[in-house]
Amino acid sequence: MKKSNITLEAVKNMKQVGSIVSSSIFLTKKITKGIDFSRKINVLELGAGTGAITRGILNEMSHNSVLYSYENNANLVHTLRGINDKRLIIKSECVSKLNNLPDGFFDVVVSSLPLSNLSDDFKSNVYRDIRSKLTKSGTYIQYQYSLSDYKNIERLFKNCKVDFCLLNLPPAFIYKVEMTNEGAPEFPLFAQ
Ligand SMILES: C[S@@+](CC[C@H](N)C(=O)[O-])C[C@H]1O[C@@H](n2cnc3c(N)ncnc32)[C@H](O)[C@@H]1O
Repeated sequence: MKKSNITLEAVKNMKQVGSIVSSSIFLTKKITKGIDFSRKINVLELGAGTGAITRGILNEMSHNSVLYSYENNANLVHTLRGINDKRLIIKSECVSKLNNLPDGFFDVVVSSLPLSNLSDDFKSNVYRDIRSKLTKSGTYIQYQYSLSDYKNIERLFKNCKVDFCLLNLPPAFIYKVEMTNEGAPEFPLFAQ
């Protein structure tokens, strides 16, 4: 297995990878500014890709914090494994396996998953797992190149704030949800 880059992997499977270049430093900064790094935190990253955001989170995290990063493209996982940091746990798995993680364990979920390319059923399960893996006051941060999933995220999690990063290819909307008890989503998440 050799290290790969996101452009090559996107050419092979655009639907799964969802982007032809890594997240920019500007997008990474906008995402990490939404996280309170002043304390020990557990972070869950979904769709880590080449690790641009992974590195940004590790650069800010305290020495006793931990980051679980999920990526299901084996070549990109190989690239991620080049990050040498004991606080990083790389999960070479589909995010459909999140149910193996402890409930209420994560303070923050950061997701790069290409929501527009995923089915409603799949997203419904991912959203349910995000809710159950987060602490009651946890934060869910997601970016997307359109606002196509904004309405669902707002409906399910409530109080979804939107930021925008022009300096990314393509420019991206950033959703940030601060969990509250009232925000617990109802199931089923999508009309059946
Ligand atoms: C937009 S890219 C991430 C870009 C990343 N922030 C970077 O800078 O490289 C989305 C990533 O999600 C991964 N992905 C898509 N579906 C996934 C799934 N079901 N489970 C885990 N990872 C997934 C893709 O392989 C891809 O690397």
